[in-house]
Amino acid sequence: MAIDGPSGAGKSTIARGLASRLGFIYIDTGAMYRAVALWALRQGVDSADMHRMEQLAVAAEIELAPGRISLNGEDVTEAIRTPEVSNGASKIGVIPGVRRAMVAKQREIGERTSVVMEGRDIGTVVFPQAEVKVFLDANPEERVRRRYQEIRGKGEPVPITEGQLAVEMRERDERDSNRRDAPLSQAPDAVYLDSTALSIPEVEEAILKIVRSRVTNGRDFS
Ligand code: DC
Repeated sequence: MAIDGPSGAGKSTIARGLASRLGFIYIDTGAMYRAVALWALRQGVDSADMHRMEQLAVAAEIELAPGRISLNGEDVTEAIRTPEVSNGASKIGVIPGVRRAMVAKQREIGERTSVVMEGRDIGTVVFPQAEVKVFLDANPEERVRRRYQEIRGKGEPVPITEGQLAVEMRERDERDSNRRDAPLSQAPDAVYLDSTALSIPEVEEAILKIVRSRVTNGRDFS
């Protein structure tokens, strides 16, 4: 199953919940771009250096375990969740060589097992043949509000104001949607779902309804 959409639309929460209900593996592809961006920041590699960035993306040993991600053997689950890394991940996401390396790793995982994979290009590029594709959206104000709540919920000093976050998210969405290679876009056969006014269980239920209708050849028994 492929879930794509902009940041703050609820992809991670929904994909994690659905994977657990369906007994599938949850794959957060944004975390993979973040891990490479973190490595580049630590190594002082400029995110505009396409050649070096591609080398890092190919060399990165990324392991995904439920709720955790490791980079070259180090658990970086918390380290990749800073605004600096968010920005870096979006910047390196425009580099075709980086995307090639990430897509290859993602396909390898998805071919081995049943997954709920979320990102920006899963239904369009990584798994165009996915059985269920959802484009999850929400209005920009709601997406910023959710992200801000998430950052505040960590109980640590908040490194950013809500206004700054809104600016950063707008820039990131613009970059992710307008890049040449695999921009964020809805696959023609994806179901569009606006989660602005929906609760988490409501979004899950709406997607499970799509899953059920697919496995019952389009007849809806729910
Ligand atoms: O989902 P996220 O916010 O953790 O993703 C961080 C950045 O990584 C996002 O702004 C763009 C990039 N990304 C991508 O280009 N393609 C993906 N499939 C997932 C993320």
